[in-house]
Amino acid sequence: MKSILSVRFCLSTLAFIGLLQLDRFGAAAVSLQPQIPSVASFSPNSDDSGFVLSASTQIVVDSTFQSSGSPSLIDYAKTFRDDLISLSGFTSLPQVQAGSLEDSHTSPVIFLTLGATDHNYLSGLATDEGYDFVVSSQSYIIKGSGAIGAWWGTRTLLQQVALTTESSDGIILAAGSGSDTPGWEVRGFMLDAARHWFEPSFLADLCIYASFFKLQTFHIHASDNLWDQNFISGPDWRKTNQNETWTKDEFAVLQATCSARGITIIPEVDTPGHSLPITKWKPELGIPKSPDLLNLSHPDTIPTIKAIWDEVLPWFESAEVSIGADEYDASLANDYISFVNDMSQYISQKSGKSIRIWGTNEPSSTLSINMNVTIQHWDFPGDSIPVQLMERGYRVINSEQQFLYLDGKTSDAGQFPVELDQDLMWSGAPDGGGWAPNIFTEHDSSNNTSPQNPLLRGSIMAIWNDWGNNATTPLEIYYQLARSLAVFAEKTWAGSGVRDTQLTRDQFNSIYDTLNAAAPGQNLNRAVAPQPNNILFQYPTVSQPQMSSFDSVGPPYTLKFTIKPTSSSEISVPLFDGTSMLVPYDGGVIFSGTDSKLHVQSLAFEDPTTRIRYPLPYELPTDVYTTVEIHATRNYTYALIDGNTYWWTTELDIWGEYMKPANMSFAAPSRFIRAEGFNGELRNVSLVLGS
Ligand SMILES: *[C@@H]1O[C@H](CO)[C@@H](O)[C@H](O)[C@H]1NC(C)=O
Ligand SMILES: *[C@@H]1O[C@H](CO)[C@@H](O)[C@H](O)[C@H]1NC(C)=O
Ligand SMILES: *[C@@H]1O[C@H](CO)[C@@H](O)[C@H](O)[C@H]1NC(C)=O
Ligand SMILES: *[C@@H]1O[C@H](CO)[C@@H](O)[C@H](O)[C@H]1NC(C)=O
Ligand SMILES: *[C@@H]1O[C@H](CO)[C@@H](O)[C@H](O)[C@H]1NC(C)=O
Ligand SMILES: *[C@@H]1O[C@H](CO)[C@@H](O)[C@H](O)[C@H]1NC(C)=O
Ligand SMILES: *[C@@H]1O[C@H](CO)[C@@H](O)[C@H](O)[C@H]1NC(C)=O
Ligand SMILES: *[C@@H]1O[C@H](CO)[C@@H](O)[C@H](O)[C@H]1NC(C)=O
Repeated sequence: MKSILSVRFCLSTLAFIGLLQLDRFGAAAVSLQPQIPSVASFSPNSDDSGFVLSASTQIVVDSTFQSSGSPSLIDYAKTFRDDLISLSGFTSLPQVQAGSLEDSHTSPVIFLTLGATDHNYLSGLATDEGYDFVVSSQSYIIKGSGAIGAWWGTRTLLQQVALTTESSDGIILAAGSGSDTPGWEVRGFMLDAARHWFEPSFLADLCIYASFFKLQTFHIHASDNLWDQNFISGPDWRKTNQNETWTKDEFAVLQATCSARGITIIPEVDTPGHSLPITKWKPELGIPKSPDLLNLSHPDTIPTIKAIWDEVLPWFESAEVSIGADEYDASLANDYISFVNDMSQYISQKSGKSIRIWGTNEPSSTLSINMNVTIQHWDFPGDSIPVQLMERGYRVINSEQQFLYLDGKTSDAGQFPVELDQDLMWSGAPDGGGWAPNIFTEHDSSNNTSPQNPLLRGSIMAIWNDWGNNATTPLEIYYQLARSLAVFAEKTWAGSGVRDTQLTRDQFNSIYDTLNAAAPGQNLNRAVAPQPNNILFQYPTVSQPQMSSFDSVGPPYTLKFTIKPTSSSEISVPLFDGTSMLVPYDGGVIFSGTDSKLHVQSLAFEDPTTRIRYPLPYELPTDVYTTVEIHATRNYTYALIDGNTYWWTTELDIWGEYMKPANMSFAAPSRFIRAEGFNGELRNVSLVLGS
């Protein structure tokens, strides 16, 4: 219950405290709730009782602008309607209409239009991502500076719905007027989808989640190799990596899903370093003993890279692509710089797209990178110093690892946190005021720039998968990103110390869980509707395969069962003609769901995405009953059997130098019980929320 809210005016020097008050009709007048990211300015109108949302609320798109933008205003409005249904809990809402605000409507309308003016990034550059909004008992008007701005305005409305406690009068949104604009043009996250395989549907869900917090870029690092120097320079180096790729159609669907929610995919094909996928195919292009580096002087190297781009450029809808270009040999600086400039020109001529490269330090006294290549800085002070790059006129994106890098599960020596470090985000930076895209180091203000610097395009946080497929399940990657993306969204929208409406850490903490749970369009939490006593299912005896109504259930949960596997090593399989045949039998699968399977053999959990099995150091005895209790949180999964505890773990292969054990978290395999080919008795099965 948010009875006391603090709303601070952008234009006022005084902090204004809005209190819950009763207006002359007796309805509760509410104020704008703090949300993520914070709204730049809002002036409450205490003379109005507010906008009452109901199942008959009509969404109207200004017919003058319905086709403006790509996606168009009306397309965004339709997605918004779906989200509003899911978030409000109404079973339905009227279909979106095109019209004008003056057309007669039976109930208050949400009206989407364009034409908002004076929306600029902090640099002063005009943007179509801004929006104004005016809320009254008659209408909730969102006026974008472009269709994308109106879309972000719908996210604001949805977050207010999520954060407003329903009163006896319904869901009432604060009356008043507001205006909001992101501080920076580039607000995004990068996922290493090269060293870990992900289904396109998972990537799409990440976009949908991120867009609820108004992020606008999803940078997909799409080609790379695991780094193991001994292996790469040894005789077997062509044996790494698996045969994993998305099809053009899958990629098109992914792009469309992200774009429908205001997110642009920036694809990265990384060369001339990190290029094992290419040298495995054409070993002659590699530098001997460093086959992950391409020899740019070989006459076939650049034509090969160009041929790859020729193939994939038509896939990509973004105006920019990343050619990677990190961690190359500094003694080959001139080759490197010529390569980057050549690719910039080539990709521009072929597709009209411009390029980004990772920040690097390739000293040359004769050559320099073209000014129209954006530098994505990541390593201070190892890269060229970003403030110096900007002084020379380069445009820069901040991905500084000290603040913005994560590694799947954990990093080598703990240099990166599991989630973005909240202390750094809220109170890091030289002045203790918190990180923002203009902050590259904590230690020396002269290395940071002003939020208004027009050459600072924004920021992209990154999650790498240095330890490959078996370090994490996809959902474990989401667990690392969930809160990280939300705090990052606040800092890239509002900055630190720029607007007095920015969130405080306490405000963020008090609303994050609610907003995470409310984020529409995906269910990465694998949340389920509340059940009596938190019991999802309970079966005294399971003698036939059963299907529950839960595809998958996110941790924390407790899955219990009593099992008596047969000792036979063969199983009878029915044939079409009514007879049956005996086939070898490994125990089968007891439970399966979207995100996991549980095998009898070694009680191994399987991740269906990568098909990797994670066995326990334990075998169930056959022909006797054993009771197994599985407890899972987002940090681990363990089994209690006969008073002993067994953990599902993996071994992270750290740079090929040493192995590091780590826990695994699995969602409950809740869809099928007695799922595939299990032979034996299964009793007292229950799945209960909470661990
Ligand atoms: C990789 O997959 C493609 C398409 O399924 C197949 O044609 C090719 O033979 C596979 N290559 C390897 C090395 O497995
Ligand atoms: C790169 O290729 C060129 C041309 O084939 C060759 O002369 C040169 O030695 C190669 N460089 C390295 C480091 O192998
Ligand atoms: C970048 O600048 C170079 C040199 O001025 C030019 O050849 C190239 O076409 C430009 N590329 C883009 C994407 O504008
Ligand atoms: C930034 O940091 C680097 C290395 O720590 C230092 O050499 C440099 O002088 C600093 N200041 C500026 C303005 O570049
Ligand atoms: C998981 O581990 C993190 C530290 O990595 C800790 O902050 C968090 O409380 C743990 N959560 C659970 C559910 O154990
Ligand atoms: C995980 O994969 C790495 C190769 O990247 C391998 O060395 C390691 O043994 C695997 N771990 C397990 C538990 O299979
Ligand atoms: C797994 O998690 C448990 C509980 O937090 C912890 O005691 C144990 O050390 C972890 N195991 C590994 C390999 O990290
Ligand atoms: C199942 O649970 C019931 C009630 O707790 C118990 O009496 C029964 O022995 C259990 N069945 C098995 C096979 O353990």
